[in-house]
Amino acid sequence: MRLPRVVKVQSSCEDLSVLDAPAKLIKSGGLVAFPTETVYGLGANALSEKAVSRLFEVKKRALDDPVIVHIARKEDLPEVASDIPAFAHKLAGEFWPGAITLVLKKKKHIPDLVTAGLDTVAVRMPGCLIARELIKRSGVPVAAPSANMFGRVSPTCAKDVIEELGADIDMVVDAGRTEIGVESTVCDITGRQVKVLRPGGVSVEMLRSILPGEVSVETDRALLKRSPGSARRHYSPSCALVIIERGPDQAERVLEKLFLFEEKGLKACVLASEEHAGLFPAEKTVVLGPSADASRCARGLYSSLRALDKFSCDVIIAEAIDESGLGLAVMNRLRKASG
Ligand code: TXA
Ligand code: MG
Repeated sequence: MRLPRVVKVQSSCEDLSVLDAPAKLIKSGGLVAFPTETVYGLGANALSEKAVSRLFEVKKRALDDPVIVHIARKEDLPEVASDIPAFAHKLAGEFWPGAITLVLKKKKHIPDLVTAGLDTVAVRMPGCLIARELIKRSGVPVAAPSANMFGRVSPTCAKDVIEELGADIDMVVDAGRTEIGVESTVCDITGRQVKVLRPGGVSVEMLRSILPGEVSVETDRALLKRSPGSARRHYSPSCALVIIERGPDQAERVLEKLFLFEEKGLKACVLASEEHAGLFPAEKTVVLGPSADASRCARGLYSSLRALDKFSCDVIIAEAIDESGLGLAVMNRLRKASG
């Protein structure tokens, strides 16, 4: 297998000039995977149709699923978006740099391929310093979907990227594990309200504390029209996944399911809360995190799903957690994975 060049870097590094080579590569049309605080992205020059076209090809991404354009500074927003409402600045002021993506009317020079033909563009200024330095040094806005095959689990470390896409991309910037672990919150702000199209790293509660009464979470049906690609089965491990909802006898219901699947001759594994994990067979169980700590569950979600993939089971039985805070994003991904 041909392997991409790997550039290792730490945010504590004073000299980030190692980012000059990957930045130059992005500008000239290459594909470079890089860390953000949410998940690793696969970056391409957003102004180059050729580069973005290769991005879609490598990911085997459906052409009706638009990608996010990443910028390094708030001042760069008008370079890619137009008709920016006042509350966009309020949101950016509060949450940028960070895990929120704003969907706004697009500027003409952003290729239609990036936005899947929509008249809107999704924009994010990542919280991760290395990501921002890379974008700044490239001198162009950077189109970057998560660095995984379309529909699969997002990568939270460089090794995951290399395993899945290594043969087809040019370079990987490796800064270790990502902090948040689930993708950014995608908010459509082209109307008068904030519509959350995808829950993510910035919780709905945080959004509501800034814009009370003006935040709604879109249903999957409404999503289909606005963001076609995002409504399909997604964030999926290679096998089936069933969710066991919360409740007093949650662990017993997991065990029942486990026996039921095994009776049918299916190999089942469990994605368990830290509290219940000890009740299940150790060799079939991966721990998600403490069910009361959604941030830790979010951070470990994708690596847990990847670990379960290595068990080569037929079905994953996943315990639901509370949907407040980052729990909403965790459960959104698990529900999408369950299809
Ligand atoms: O945290 C993240 O957002 C990561 C990192 C790399 O920044 N990126 C990411 O990109 O998750 P991706 O392509 O895997 O997901 C982008 C989401 C999709 O659900 C897509 O449908 C939606 O954003 N999206 C992009 N442009 C849109 C637009 N113009 N209107 C509505 N939804 C849009
Ligand atoms: Mg993705």
